[in-house]
Amino acid sequence: MTTLLRGRLLSFKRAPQSLDDTDSYTYESDGGLLIENGIIAAAGPYAEVKVKASVDVAEVDHRPHLILPGFIDMHLHFPQMQVIASYAANLLEWLNTYTFPEECRFVESAHAERIATHFYDELIRHGTTTAVAYCSVHKTSADAFFAEAMRRDMRMVGGKVMMDRNAPQGLLDTPEMGYDETRQVIADWHGKGRNHVAITPRFAITSTPEQMEATAALAREFPDLHIQTHLSENHDEIKFTGELYPDAIDYTDIYARYGLLGPKSLLGHAIHLSEREADAMSEAGAVAVHCPTSNLFLGSGLFPLKALARREKPVRIGVATDIGGGSSYSMLRTMDEAYKIQQLLGERLNPLESYYYMTLGNAEALSLADKIGTLEPGTDADLTILNAAATPAMALKMEVVKTLPEELFLLQTMGDDRAIVETYVAGKAAKSVLN
Ligand code: GUN
Ligand code: ZN
Repeated sequence: MTTLLRGRLLSFKRAPQSLDDTDSYTYESDGGLLIENGIIAAAGPYAEVKVKASVDVAEVDHRPHLILPGFIDMHLHFPQMQVIASYAANLLEWLNTYTFPEECRFVESAHAERIATHFYDELIRHGTTTAVAYCSVHKTSADAFFAEAMRRDMRMVGGKVMMDRNAPQGLLDTPEMGYDETRQVIADWHGKGRNHVAITPRFAITSTPEQMEATAALAREFPDLHIQTHLSENHDEIKFTGELYPDAIDYTDIYARYGLLGPKSLLGHAIHLSEREADAMSEAGAVAVHCPTSNLFLGSGLFPLKALARREKPVRIGVATDIGGGSSYSMLRTMDEAYKIQQLLGERLNPLESYYYMTLGNAEALSLADKIGTLEPGTDADLTILNAAATPAMALKMEVVKTLPEELFLLQTMGDDRAIVETYVAGKAAKSVLN
């Protein structure tokens, strides 16, 4: 099956150095994108791509809209769709009062399957085509998560959470169970369809040293898999963690001691790192995943994105919604809040950087840039189509917008799911077919 899309193409080649770093991306004002069997076959000026297409190619004209690689969300919690908008003073109160009780419900397959349907609908509605998710402690939740990803042919990363203390009984596994069930999830789902399984110890507070040993064994046995956990999100969390692991130098050192700090490691939040911890992250090539709406919502702190990125030993960075600590599924809303956090820190996050992070930046942070995050031929045809005049107020502002960065900034500042005209998953329109 071949499809030819026409519209304005935007794809990054590397991280932009400044607002006028036009070499960091390719932009085609009248672009064509040819899709064959779910893969991008060609991209470039419409007239040049059109001649490569067969005469009977199905053509979709998205002009004047922008065609971008699908957004990537580097950290969110599949069982927290009904936790969003929970009124709590801070992270630990929020976890204990709302989040842990809600996650207990995912022991029921029927519930996990129902929420999985809503989960993917919501991602697609917001232009997100790849996400990195925590399931609950129950294998049933991982089964529902990956089965639905496969049904929709989406490229997803996810893991059964491992946690064996400091949570309700219904959310605890044991070091053996966590190990065995993670192995089973890997056997059942990794590499099936476009699924990637991640080793997922929730965070140091909810894992005993024995469970961390079991996690270390998994990391040794499956060195290619992603590892995801939480790091240094909230001051009370950091203090409690230090008490639980008194021998560690600091929070980051706990994960390092168990072999969990490497280039496939995705550390959610990482807001309050010391210089030593940032050095350790940088040397290991580990990724700090910034979750701006969550950090503001839970009052966790201001992530020093720019400062971490420009260090002599830079820390790799990803961006994410962190549903349900986060308050929006939209990566546009997410980057709007990321921008405001940098403003409060006296830093500038320019719109080119924002769109780089949502696409190629997150793909690089996942070591998946050969498959997603660009419009390069040979990569997955996962796309989002953006309309910067989606609402009356946006259309009015668009009347005075003159440049591409201005348009991107408007989309980021005022846009949400209404600005997503269509989402393509493996070359197929996926948003317009939602109920
Ligand atoms: N730390 C451990 N678990 C969680 C979670 O579910 N959400 C957030 N924001 N932080 C966490
Ligand atoms: Zn999280």
